[in-house]
Amino acid sequence: MNTSNDAALTMLREVAADGTASAPSAAAAASGNTARPATDTVLHLNGISKSFGENHVLRDVSLTVHKGETVCLLGPSGCGKSTLLRCVNWLEIPDAGTVHVSNRRMGVREGSSIKMSDAELARSRARIGMVFQHFALWPHLTVLQNVMEAPLHVLGRPRDEARADAERLLERVGLAGKMEAFPSRLSGGQKQRVGIARALAMKPDILLFDEPTSALDPMLVGEVLNVMHSLAQEGATMVIVTHEMEFARQVASRIVFMDAGQVIESAPPEQFFGAPQTPRARQFLARFRSPHQPFDDTAGDAPKLL
Ligand SMILES: Nc1ncnc2c1ncn2[C@@H]1O[C@H](COP(=O)(O)OP(=O)(O)O)[C@@H](O)[C@H]1O
Ligand SMILES: [Mg+2]
Repeated sequence: MNTSNDAALTMLREVAADGTASAPSAAAAASGNTARPATDTVLHLNGISKSFGENHVLRDVSLTVHKGETVCLLGPSGCGKSTLLRCVNWLEIPDAGTVHVSNRRMGVREGSSIKMSDAELARSRARIGMVFQHFALWPHLTVLQNVMEAPLHVLGRPRDEARADAERLLERVGLAGKMEAFPSRLSGGQKQRVGIARALAMKPDILLFDEPTSALDPMLVGEVLNVMHSLAQEGATMVIVTHEMEFARQVASRIVFMDAGQVIESAPPEQFFGAPQTPRARQFLARFRSPHQPFDDTAGDAPKLL
């Protein structure tokens, strides 16, 4: 069965489920994904450009992420990965291009060029979970309070519900025993897992990770990657900037490779790691080859990664 038949079937199921047909969105059409129903698109970036002075950091970047995808965003330092993630939640305002999260425009009122108010922006941002390199937990709140804070005060959820949810999420990230601890008593890996629970507590449509393990002691990287791995298996929609190549190879449904402010490859991991298409990607991957594993360029095998 071909992809458009699959998509048509999905649409029919959706019509059956809620009585409304979902047509492919203009956004999906623009990205060449005309066969997919609009409801399947969680993030759509179209033509994002951003400069800081003379520094053209993002050049016409388009990217579509579908429900349940784990996209690993790779690329050399300084190529614009963090800026791109920051444009998604309007922490940086793109000079050009549009951002849609769950088919809703970010930063600008739909159908107009009017900037969103702070309250509108806050509501839009609540649909995006962000996990940064440096875990910005509130030091004066316990782990449990850190996770409950935004659901209580941003979403206005009842305290009992927010607490039950936070407890469940902390169990899920392996921190059932640390709920009453203050962040200063946690290891870096534990703090980052609280950061993930805190992001999940908002029930976001998408999770964005910006090098979540790069500030960690190497011993603690695995426990954070394991949580992210299990989220991917459970069908969370995620964009992950990482330099953990083996993790990306195992967990990503798609690799997006950026260089100098542009997306230059987008492929399933086996294809990207096995047969990168561009010299820049090959050069990038070569840096991650294990020094103990000779890389046979002629065999067509995947580079041996860490
Ligand atoms: N707020 C800013 N002001 C000025 N320059 C910035 C700012 N943020 C990022 N840059 C520049 O943009 C480029 C891309 O940075 P970044 O998106 O952080 O790259 P990456 O995350 O891929 O390492 C770099 O040259 C960086 O110095
Ligand atoms: Mg960065």
